[in-house]
Amino acid sequence: MHERLISGTETLEDLSVTSALRPQQLEDYIGQPQIKENLTTAIQAARGREEALDHVLLYGPPGLGKTTLAHIIANEMGVDIVTSSGPALERAGDLVGLLTNLKAGSVFFIDEIHRLPRIVEEYLYSAMEDFSVDFMIDKGAFAKSIKLPVQPFTLVGATTRAGKLTAPLRERFGIFYHLDFYPDDELVKIVNRSASILAMPIEPDGASEIARRSRGTPRIANRLLRRVRDYAQVKADGIITVAVADLALVALGVDQCGLDELDRKLLRTIIDFYQGGPVGVEALAATLNEESDTLVDMVEPFLLKMGFLSRTPSGRKASQRAYTHFNLQPAPGGLFE
Ligand SMILES: Nc1ncnc2c1ncn2[C@@H]1O[C@H](COP(=O)(O)OP(=O)(O)OP(=O)(O)O)[C@@H](O)[C@H]1O
Ligand SMILES: [Mg+2]
Repeated sequence: MHERLISGTETLEDLSVTSALRPQQLEDYIGQPQIKENLTTAIQAARGREEALDHVLLYGPPGLGKTTLAHIIANEMGVDIVTSSGPALERAGDLVGLLTNLKAGSVFFIDEIHRLPRIVEEYLYSAMEDFSVDFMIDKGAFAKSIKLPVQPFTLVGATTRAGKLTAPLRERFGIFYHLDFYPDDELVKIVNRSASILAMPIEPDGASEIARRSRGTPRIANRLLRRVRDYAQVKADGIITVAVADLALVALGVDQCGLDELDRKLLRTIIDFYQGGPVGVEALAATLNEESDTLVDMVEPFLLKMGFLSRTPSGRKASQRAYTHFNLQPAPGGLFE
């Protein structure tokens, strides 16, 4: 997959500043008020009972703060966190090893939990429910199953697509939080918080401009902020003003609505190749030479949210807003049913 400036996924550069910018406590976590409130109650109750917190499933597009929340949960509960991911847990033995070594009350974080191989996933069921795993040792005639105890723990699963989880796994979670794109005022707070941690001079209008063009995503806001800082340093006098932010973002290919090259290419393909749609996601992916998963997980959610795109049973359609964005007239009969 090519590098995308406004992609929600983490890059190496992100990782290096992530630890500095990642909120550690719930009170530093900006936005998502409903989740914060519910989580505060759940954590207080679990702490009061001296029990592990119920298993938590976090879902939503990349870069909205799922990993951050998992770490915050562990911090607020005052417990250890062990992290892994669906694709990394290739063999059942890997998972069983991690589970049986958990300390009482720990958070076990599995990122991209929808990518856990099915045979590995089945070991999670009894661990989550009964705090034990039945592990097969030996093979063939000597095969036997032994029951291994697991300390009470909290599974925190993160996924970009809750729909891809199997029903038995989904049912074993007690707490579900759907992370949605952040409104501009919350992103402004995130930009200002990051600028102050990184000691960057920024004007209020500059912060708003970056926030408004961050696709509702904190990770993108932080990344654009760093790119704009480079620009301010080299081409202006170091202060992030609205003018500097605008120039930098235009130079980076991020338009007024925060759409990048790939967003625009997707919309233009529907409009120019498919007369505004409907077009199936597979056909669209083939035309764009992208993986359909990339489109579904990383490109479409924001375009849908902003009303540039609609999903119909027969495929994706470009909306009136998309045509307006490109100063185009909708094809006659192509847009409205
Ligand atoms: N609510 C928030 N307040 C402040 N900063 C945030 C918030 N949410 C996320 N961030 C910032 O955005 C960055 C990305 O968040 P995080 O890594 O938690 O996203 P994610 O949802 O796990 O993404 P992915 O699906 O790609 O794993 C964090 O390093 C943090 O700096
Ligand atoms: Mg993450």
